[in-house]
Amino acid sequence: MSSFATSLPAHSRRTGALSGTIRVPGDKSISHRAMMFGALAAGRTTVTGLLEGEDVLRTAEAMRAMGARIEKDGTRWLIDGVGNGCLLEPEAPLDFGNAGTGSRLTMGLAGTYDMKTVFVGDASLSKRPMGRVLDPLREMGVQVLDAAPGDRMPITLHGPRRAAPITYRVPMASAQVKSAVLLAGLNAPGVTTVIEPVMTRDHTEKMLAGFGAAIEVETDGSGVRHIRLEGRGKLIGRDVAVPGDPSSAAFPIVAALIAPRSAVTIENVLMNPTRTGLIETLMEMGAAIELTNRRDAGGEETADLVVKSSRLRGVHVPPERAPFMIDEYPVLAVAAAFAEGETVMEGLEELRVKESDRLAAVARGLEINGADCTEGEASLTVRGRPDGKGIGGGTVETHLDHRIAMSFLVMGMAAEKPITVDDRSMIATSFPEFMDMMTGLGADFE
Ligand code: S3P
Repeated sequence: MSSFATSLPAHSRRTGALSGTIRVPGDKSISHRAMMFGALAAGRTTVTGLLEGEDVLRTAEAMRAMGARIEKDGTRWLIDGVGNGCLLEPEAPLDFGNAGTGSRLTMGLAGTYDMKTVFVGDASLSKRPMGRVLDPLREMGVQVLDAAPGDRMPITLHGPRRAAPITYRVPMASAQVKSAVLLAGLNAPGVTTVIEPVMTRDHTEKMLAGFGAAIEVETDGSGVRHIRLEGRGKLIGRDVAVPGDPSSAAFPIVAALIAPRSAVTIENVLMNPTRTGLIETLMEMGAAIELTNRRDAGGEETADLVVKSSRLRGVHVPPERAPFMIDEYPVLAVAAAFAEGETVMEGLEELRVKESDRLAAVARGLEINGADCTEGEASLTVRGRPDGKGIGGGTVETHLDHRIAMSFLVMGMAAEKPITVDDRSMIATSFPEFMDMMTGLGADFE
């Protein structure tokens, strides 16, 4: 089953100077959570700046199916939640389309309820491992009534009468797993503890605290985070202003760096330190990125980014940085293809279980477009061509992965020959305005 009936190829040609001021859509991670926590909290939650991409709209549908009232009023989303512990049994399977975050977090949110929930998704989501979320849920007493081989979707869950709070050490660097366990803990009496040896994006912790959950985070002497959540507490609706998504801003940032004589401003981008690894890396590569108008926007820092064409140099990207830029490696690889020298990216094991095997998809896309790279088990090395000579001319297989499609369309903007991506339809999952916004800056897409 695919969310997209037919694939829609797109072509990208070398462009001249890019210019303009844009706002990218709202952060996907925060948008999913705003929908979920608003749906669960008692009273009204008002969300502005929500990402209205397919992934988040599917989360909204799932929350409606479990009792929340959600409607759009102009630019605001109004959510009347059910109250913690009061989700209703959905009558039909919850279809999450392409969305790993929507499905995995909802498994935590609803899985511990004494009811049946069925989770389905598209061909990409149905290949992704769900055992990483099902394992801790099983410990809490959740029955996995049905799953495809390897704990894959479609998955049917039934929660216990009374879920058991657990202490869970997250075995991989995954904010989705951390979040699923914490959300399951909301419906378990007592304290659920998540031990996070490697810090990942902390939106769940921050936002749950904002909705009134009793949650505390302690970082021990060795940097390991201990997140404790008191279950069965009250969550209260609130206003959420979603800042621009740094993972979407990544595309116009890299485009402005590699297209000649460009100057692009991207306003209101989330600057949470667990999300700024790409900007840090690009600056190390010599990128002219100026952060202006830094401000606090409802508990998260945001800034306007002024990006100018730059001569980039290859760098070594340390594995510890991977969790803070995990979704940005495909477009970083594109930047590296136009940098002087070699860029080595390590600690990429999680890239293999994204919307596609992103490590392989990026390496094949670079190779077919004449870029020099080496794919390791969990690493990627790219040797760049600053003039873009010999680059391009290939058709990239996107494997239902929005970030692969957007990355290679950006690559075409500085390549000698045009680049084709086999499908652009799934870009709508996270950045529906991408084609138009980039064209408005000067991109030659078709
Ligand atoms: C996300 C966590 C990351 C990221 C995804 C969004 C989240 O996934 O890749 O796009 O909102 O929690 P993992 O937890 O699998 O690393």
